[in-house]
Amino acid sequence: MTDLIYLDNGATSFPKPDIVHTFMFDFFKRFGVNPGRSGYDLCIETGEMVEETRKMLTDFFNGTDPNRLCFSYNSTDSLNLAINGMLEHGDHAVSTTIEHNSVLRPLYHLEKYSGVEVDFIPFDKKGFVDPDDIARKFKKNTKLVVVNHASNVIGTIQPIREIGERCRKHGIPFVADVSQSAGKIPVNMEEQNIDVVCFTGHKSLLGPTGIGGLCVREGINTRHTRAGGTGVRSAVRAHLDEYPYRMEYGTPNVLGISGLNAGVKWIMEKGMTNLFQHEKKLTEQLRNGLQKIGGVTMYYQDDLTDHISILLFNVDGMEALNTGTLLDVDHDIACRTGLHCAPRVHEQIGTAEIHGGVRFGIGPFNTEEHIKAAIEGVTEIAEMQRERKGVKYA
Ligand SMILES: Cc1ncc(COP(=O)(O)O)c(C=O)c1O
Repeated sequence: MTDLIYLDNGATSFPKPDIVHTFMFDFFKRFGVNPGRSGYDLCIETGEMVEETRKMLTDFFNGTDPNRLCFSYNSTDSLNLAINGMLEHGDHAVSTTIEHNSVLRPLYHLEKYSGVEVDFIPFDKKGFVDPDDIARKFKKNTKLVVVNHASNVIGTIQPIREIGERCRKHGIPFVADVSQSAGKIPVNMEEQNIDVVCFTGHKSLLGPTGIGGLCVREGINTRHTRAGGTGVRSAVRAHLDEYPYRMEYGTPNVLGISGLNAGVKWIMEKGMTNLFQHEKKLTEQLRNGLQKIGGVTMYYQDDLTDHISILLFNVDGMEALNTGTLLDVDHDIACRTGLHCAPRVHEQIGTAEIHGGVRFGIGPFNTEEHIKAAIEGVTEIAEMQRERKGVKYA
């Protein structure tokens, strides 16, 4: 059996840099006690790594206060904490149709059960949301704008600085879902006018699963929607208001934080721009190769300028799921098929009726050989399909 060619980095990055495994293992073996709960050295040293990671990520997102970098399980958790902690009965929110279910579902839930009204702005024919379309929906009771920085389906990067600018002008808090962008392209809270960044650790930040977080700008407040242990001021009945406790509940995922620490350090050492340039080059090669295959439809890939390393396509007449199975079984290529937890994107581009598309997600460890193999694999599948249907291409 040949080695698996992993092109599912949109789902999670794999493999991780070796240093992520070794650091996690060593750290957990040597420290790994419950941080912030006691005064013995081991506890303090574990806490120091947690605080170092808080500081490192705050700098990474150009936030101002490391205490406002709160750890969670993943982006879904962070987005739930932010959305539920910022909207209440009678509020209005603006979001987009390019969102992942981790934004859509909390908003639908609030629409259904909490009297919150939401407008979802469609993206244009190139895959971008117009900041003015968002601003045109602002009303007196608009209390939140939440937008996906980079699409996990079609790869387009939204103009978040301009969206944030419109929000700032109207005093409306702006939450950015940076699940696919953080670690690939700059996420800069100051320059991009972002009030809350929601991130996940296991994708392009190269950490393990089960760790994520949110960074809340000073002056913005998120209500706590849970309550529990914080390790400090245990006699107080209410959950603590000060950050990070305000958004953190119970024992933190120390192992996950250690992996995230190593992942982000690795990215900074290699240089995020260098890593992304490598991915961009491969994305372009893959796009060019797939475009030449007769009977393959690509979606929103003509211009890769404001685009992360994600490509969506279908072999005409084939269910995406079957293309994915053939890529796996016959070619040892891992990809993701279906609706990618972002059903409204597929509704808008017309792929919902055919059960979605095939997504390739390129990561820092992919090579030109992987891209060649993917092009060959799709070529073979498309040829098979043409023979089955008796279709001839020029
Ligand atoms: C754009 C986007 N937002 C949110 C998420 C949710 O991330 P997680 O599953 O880590 O919570 C994903 C994951 O695929 C995503 O691509």
